Amino acid sequence: MKVEVEIPKEEDQIVQRVKDMYRFKTKNQALNFIIKNFLIEKKQYEQIGVGFTDISELEKKYVNQVLDSERLSYGPFLKSFEKKIASIHECKFAVAVNSGTDALRIAIACLKETENWVDGDEIICPSVTFISTSNMILENDLRPVFVDIESRTYNLDYEKIERAINRKTRAIMVVHLFGQPADMSEIMRIAKKHKLKVIEDSCETIFSKYKGKSVGSFGDISCFSTYAAHIIATGVGGVALTNNPKYAEIMRSIANHGRDGIYISIDDDKNKKRSELKEIVERRFKFIRLGHSARITEMEGAIGLAQLERADEILSKRKVNAAYLISKLKKFEKFIQLPIKRGDRDHSYMMFPIVIKKNSGISKQELVLFLENNNIETRDMLPLLNQPVYKKIFGDVENNYPVAKWVNDYGFYIGCHQRLTKEQIDYVIDKFEEFFRVKYIIDNKNA
Ligand SMILES: Cc1ncc(COP(=O)(O)O)c(C=O)c1O
Repeated sequence: MKVEVEIPKEEDQIVQRVKDMYRFKTKNQALNFIIKNFLIEKKQYEQIGVGFTDISELEKKYVNQVLDSERLSYGPFLKSFEKKIASIHECKFAVAVNSGTDALRIAIACLKETENWVDGDEIICPSVTFISTSNMILENDLRPVFVDIESRTYNLDYEKIERAINRKTRAIMVVHLFGQPADMSEIMRIAKKHKLKVIEDSCETIFSKYKGKSVGSFGDISCFSTYAAHIIATGVGGVALTNNPKYAEIMRSIANHGRDGIYISIDDDKNKKRSELKEIVERRFKFIRLGHSARITEMEGAIGLAQLERADEILSKRKVNAAYLISKLKKFEKFIQLPIKRGDRDHSYMMFPIVIKKNSGISKQELVLFLENNNIETRDMLPLLNQPVYKKIFGDVENNYPVAKWVNDYGFYIGCHQRLTKEQIDYVIDKFEEFFRVKYIIDNKNA
């Protein structure tokens, strides 16, 4: 598409400087370059996405085994998937469900039931997270009490937790954001001191360790997501982990319409002694609490199991990609804050967060549009309190959370997933270079 643009006189000088810098033959070429990169047209490159569904021969083999078995409901693949994901995260029990959101829903409902929480009780929650974290608190008729985040890791700022605790506080919802664990020693210390339960929303942070101990193993219950484009991606899917057998049984029941836990799988009445069978038959269609249908199929179990078996390959590629991006983008640190990895924990790089520094003179809108115009996909860094629905519920409270507000206004992320090639990452780096170079010229047009 040809785009006609009239250049204001004073901008002519910028076009001239871009022409000189990039050694374009004509001013028109320089102008086209500016238009394509900054203004309107999308280039025809393959999109460099924030995530990628990575299906290898192993996933196909396991899914075919499921199809051949003609067994779609909870069975051997889901059981193996649950066992493996629990043991990787140093937990004894896992309940696979159809989303990370449902994992959160059943985790909170289980604690509400067992700990006798009442409607309106409060759960501490970070002010930057995916909306389903706090939505699930609300759905359980509890109140999220937001706490600001820490400015380098973007996780809950433990120093601000205690002032949000009152007599109605029942739990801390920790979110391990973007692939890096939160400050679990401090958070667990505060929880213990105030006798609070801890739920870990680890939907974005699978496989990471904090001080040598796995995410998901600190709190009472932890929740993971395997939604498309997550580190382990099954399409839809999630899992709740715990070391408490009672919690595991209750969560499985809630995820199965509130059913008596004696019969969850169609195998549960097979090969039983007469007396056992009698009890199962009597109880297997009993519903003992309110529940949901949060079940997942063997297909997701098969994909999930295959991906867990490929975890090292997936994770190491992400780490290499992130380290390479950091090393090459470091020279722009005057303008942008790159992700850091604290020395006492891993980072599994679910994504690559970038926040524009205050007073850097860089506009997020300009940079994001430039990247998108060049087919580099971006996403906002999970703004929460400025969402229209939350403004309706909680009012205009964003200014009370200055770090979250800065991240909402200036943060975005790009992908660093395992399917990105070195050429693609070099292309992304080139585009950042172009942006900052041209931006610099434009800002200094009168210099
Ligand atoms: C922090 C966090 N919590 C919860 C969820 C919800 O997971 P799901 O999309 O599987 O429902 C997500 C999804 O990405 C997330 O990032």
